[in-house]
Amino acid sequence: MSTKIAVFGATGGVCLAAVKLLLAEKKYKVSVLVRSKEKFENLYFGDAIADDKREFDKNLEIFVGDVYDEDDTNLKNVIRGSKMILSGLGALPKISFSLFPSRWFQFSQPHICEETGKIILKAVESLPVEERPSRIIGISTSGLDHDVPFLLDSFYKAFLHVPHQDKAELEELLTNQTLIPEVILVRGTLYTTGPTTRKYHATEGKKLGYTISRNDVGHFIFTQCIEGDEWVGKKPLVTY
Ligand SMILES: NC(=O)c1ccc[n+]([C@@H]2O[C@H](COP(=O)([O-])OP(=O)(O)OC[C@H]3O[C@@H](n4cnc5c(N)ncnc54)[C@H](OP(=O)(O)O)[C@@H]3O)[C@@H](O)[C@H]2O)c1
Repeated sequence: MSTKIAVFGATGGVCLAAVKLLLAEKKYKVSVLVRSKEKFENLYFGDAIADDKREFDKNLEIFVGDVYDEDDTNLKNVIRGSKMILSGLGALPKISFSLFPSRWFQFSQPHICEETGKIILKAVESLPVEERPSRIIGISTSGLDHDVPFLLDSFYKAFLHVPHQDKAELEELLTNQTLIPEVILVRGTLYTTGPTTRKYHATEGKKLGYTISRNDVGHFIFTQCIEGDEWVGKKPLVTY
């Protein structure tokens, strides 16, 4: 039987890349919760939609819903029976050009990672023990432990304090919970839309890289966090 992986944030670049790699492998069943099926299909199938060459993969299960929905039936369906949860939920900042640099990045959902982390854990708790996942891979960020070069650290402190506090709270939540025994917190540097190079560093120490493509973070998650066990209980920094 295929191993089921539950994915939240599958329309984001990192999780989408991981989903594509998982489904290409043919031994996984992937279950995603997305707010727009159309958006996910456009991203997943790309040009194949226009050419009408899309092939629905029998190993892909798409549930439509918002993690915050009061009716959490679909959220539970995504998780039920999965071996692992991958969550890359997040909210992009609104960027505005103000005379005051502190107003350049505005965050309308400052606690989204912590809040959705709690919602996911509550759903896991409601499932019978045999239907619960044994691993959760949470997408966090670099910059929480002075693990990046000085310039990037300064940029983070000046502009990204709010989402970084949220990621720190997500890390604390997942690290201290006892429902899911294996936790991996993936800390990427600044994301780019570049290709999959496979030439990145993954480490628990400080690294001099500034960026990493979403595709390479997805590749790291698939090859080393889902297929491999070496990062369980760790917070790998992924960067070029
Ligand atoms: N940008 C960076 O440099 C950087 C660096 C390190 C870490 N990160 C973090 O890495 C993670 C992944 O980033 P990414 O760029 O791949 O993705 P992203 O563009 O931040 O996408 C976020 C995902 O979360 C989904 N989402 C948000 N709220 C939701 C809700 N209430 N219910 C269901 N889905 C919801 C979005 O769905 P919709 O498509 O429906 O909006 C989207 O799929 C994020 O947590 C991000 O903060 C980013």
